[in-house]
Amino acid sequence: MNNAMNRDLARLVARVERLDGPNAQKDPYRLKFHLMPPVGWLNDPNGLCKFRDEYHVFFQYGPFDATGGVKHWGHYKSQNLIDWEYLPPMLYPDESYDVHGAYSGSIYVEDDKMYLYYTGNIKHTGNYDYIKNGRGNNTCLAISEDGLQPISKQCLMENKDYPQGLSCHVRDPKVWRQDDTYYMVLGARTLQDRGEVLIFESKDKLNWSHCNTITTPQPFGYMWECPDLFELDGQWFLAVSPQGVQQTGDCYQNVYACGYFPLYGDFHGECSLGEFHAFDKGFDFYAPQSFLDGQRRIQFGWMGMPDAAYTNPTVQNGWQHCLTVPCELTARDGRILRNPVQELEALRGTKQMISVQSEASVCALMFDLVYEPQGEFELVVHNCVALSWDNGVLRMRLVNGGAGRTERVVHMDCPNKLRVLADISAVEIFINDGAEVLSTRCYPDAQQGICWKRGQGQATLWEIK
Ligand code: FRU
Repeated sequence: MNNAMNRDLARLVARVERLDGPNAQKDPYRLKFHLMPPVGWLNDPNGLCKFRDEYHVFFQYGPFDATGGVKHWGHYKSQNLIDWEYLPPMLYPDESYDVHGAYSGSIYVEDDKMYLYYTGNIKHTGNYDYIKNGRGNNTCLAISEDGLQPISKQCLMENKDYPQGLSCHVRDPKVWRQDDTYYMVLGARTLQDRGEVLIFESKDKLNWSHCNTITTPQPFGYMWECPDLFELDGQWFLAVSPQGVQQTGDCYQNVYACGYFPLYGDFHGECSLGEFHAFDKGFDFYAPQSFLDGQRRIQFGWMGMPDAAYTNPTVQNGWQHCLTVPCELTARDGRILRNPVQELEALRGTKQMISVQSEASVCALMFDLVYEPQGEFELVVHNCVALSWDNGVLRMRLVNGGAGRTERVVHMDCPNKLRVLADISAVEIFINDGAEVLSTRCYPDAQQGICWKRGQGQATLWEIK
């Protein structure tokens, strides 16, 4: 790509990373094993793929504004899912059809090329509601031969090319191939404010036709963002991030929901959706994406939440948000289990076995803990995140440094196993081998490690190297 806007933006991003990077790097809440933006803002993971034996993770990147700004595709790559190399952005908002943001999308790899499908966002100036008018969501394709820069970019579909009855919000293409056909899912909001997923098909990756629309019989939120459709162990699942789902009991406690439906039948013909399950019951998980790595399916999520009332203190130092660790998805009894990829075990350093009794504690900056509780317990991570189980209720409370986060609860029997991954300002809690997960950012005064207030059972703690 070689237009003046692209050249200037590339220089500007490099300059802002060079000038503002050192300040962000000094921030006490920078993470050690989670992907973050070098400066500015990060949201959704995009374009996850393996290309020439390397993993590529792109992300929604706002280099000029730690609270958002115009989106680029930031870029990391890795050979082992642990050591990551930061690279210049792959996509800049430098064309008339993506000028207000190179929004989320996916990569399909074929013939040694990356096909980047993404949403070109347009926001017209004027007195618009930006729902039914004033906004363009274009489906775009960029092709890269070297995995670093696109050699071409084009707009494949505009709003007028989508089915009738939709608002302007139609975005986040996820593309895959099955037999001799390519498929794309797009998230959509109808004119009646219902969330749904559009299925498109193509024989040549360029010309796409709408072949199905999937939604629930009763409305479930007004917009479904970032769809992902995949098969695990013979069962199909539709993952979406629905907006506008009302809280009921301890379900949908966050501003926006994020989870999956089992899909029964044929996704491009007759099909129906089963019960919706959240991917994560913590504060910070949204817009995940998955990809196939050989036989296994790996997912990254955005460890954040749009429009939440939290004020992450990192903004003062010019950056905000991170991705989750990579997790492998597996299916059990129609549910998805989410567990850190096995590669992360290479981060495990010094090991301690703990016979848990009240007031047991271990000092550690970052750790990977496996705990098998025997009945009620309460443990506190970094004097900040308290996790307890009593009388059928698992509770995660941000007792200090929650930056506005309060409490999340899950009704369940006593867990038989917990795995806690604690980074400097991020904690991910995997329960019963990934049957439930709670993720949260936290901002402790000091990284103190772990302390049990109550409880019994055995634990193993590895300090992160
Ligand atoms: C989800 C989302 C996507 C959109 C992107 C813009 O967080 O709103 O629907 O493509 O973020 O950054």
